[in-house]
Amino acid sequence: MAVERTLSIVKPDAVAKNVIGEILTRFEKAGLKVVAAKMIKLDDEKAGGFYAEHKERPFFKDLVSFMTSGPVVVQVLEGENAIAANRELMGATNPKEAAAGTIRADFAESIDANAVHGSDSAASAEREIAYFFAADEICSR
Ligand code: PPS
Repeated sequence: MAVERTLSIVKPDAVAKNVIGEILTRFEKAGLKVVAAKMIKLDDEKAGGFYAEHKERPFFKDLVSFMTSGPVVVQVLEGENAIAANRELMGATNPKEAAAGTIRADFAESIDANAVHGSDSAASAEREIAYFFAADEICSR
């Protein structure tokens, strides 16, 4: 198995619920290491750029509006098969379809406010990590 890095975001709804620590604990308990982290407040440009691939989707405006509604915590997670491992911990995009015990099943209310983001491929992870972190902000462990 390969050691990978993936980008994770604790979204504004989960920050507002005060469950940042509970979510990061799930990553750590699953063997993923937090090798970079920061809390930031996204603006329209930064959030819109991040979700640029969804620009033509009907929910794009609402997604940017939600992601700029409060602070987020962005992290780089590192570990064996980190991209798929994180997606499994997160659960389905729509929390109503998320498996029991996943982060979205336990902390998310709706498809619009779904607690966490995780890169969906190696190419996305590379782009998304570089979108938020300079190389010297990531501490390999
Ligand atoms: S898709 O169809 O597979 O490209 O969509 P997906 O990658 O699962 O989701 C894209 C991101 O948009 C957020 N979002 C919504 N998706 C679908 N429908 C609605 N109504 C919607 N509203 C918001 C969804 O949470 C995904 O965000 P990220 O941060 O990538 O998980």
